Amino acid sequence: MAEAPTVPLVRSRKRSRGDDPLVMLTAYDTPGARIADAAGVDLILVGDSVANTVLGHEDTLQVDVDVMAHHVAAVARAGTRALVVGDMPWLSYHVSAEDTVRNAARLIRAGAGAVKLEGGRIRVPMIEALVAAEIPVMGHLGLTPQSVHAMGGYKVQAKEAAAAEALLLDAKALAAAGCFALVLEGVPDVVAGRVTESVDIPTIGIGAGPACDGQVLVFHDLLGLRQGRLPKFVRQYADLKTVATDAVAAWAADVRSGSFPSEAETYHLPAGS
Ligand code: KIV
Repeated sequence: MAEAPTVPLVRSRKRSRGDDPLVMLTAYDTPGARIADAAGVDLILVGDSVANTVLGHEDTLQVDVDVMAHHVAAVARAGTRALVVGDMPWLSYHVSAEDTVRNAARLIRAGAGAVKLEGGRIRVPMIEALVAAEIPVMGHLGLTPQSVHAMGGYKVQAKEAAAAEALLLDAKALAAAGCFALVLEGVPDVVAGRVTESVDIPTIGIGAGPACDGQVLVFHDLLGLRQGRLPKFVRQYADLKTVATDAVAAWAADVRSGSFPSEAETYHLPAGS
């Protein structure tokens, strides 16, 4: 994207109109945001996946607005060209429209240019309240990790015709309510393709195949910093866990052998003192 990505610019992007795919990556801190921005991504998502990737939790239900605002602020301090999207954590947009706006405002004041929330038609009143408060909203449908218990695990969604139809109706409702973009996670490629051609806002896929208007991955998955098995949809571009472990082991060996610190790495009193 030649111009800096703004909400209206992102909203206008559809591959069916000849636009390049949108590129979104998660980041949770200032160095991560700087790396993502230097690589030229369009959007940085401060995802609630910070719970699993950085904070060692089992699921995303463990983080609240305080935690998310803390990480949004850290990303915002990188001063990126990429549009920063703050993920609304579980229970921050489920109680009332007023509560939703106040919680989203915390992420905006922390430095996000937009917020993301999970769920379909049931979220329309919250989305409308956010849009009325001038807060841009990205939707998130399909495999929505905050619904892990309701879904019975992390499973590909919308595999049956009725569920695919419901997903399509959800997507249309979210677009009509004013979402500027839509994450589609863990859905069959054909379903993601149908949704993408049925809404005039961009879809950004993760485990949703190539038909979406953009793609998003989790920073730690792409760079090989994840603990455990990678999901099928992840392509890992580096093995930073091995690089970092080897570097730390080399330093530890140098300390133990006495070769660190060297003369050049040591402060000395001025000559003659
Ligand atoms: O929190 C997150 O990282 C997300 C992406 C998987 C879209 O919501």
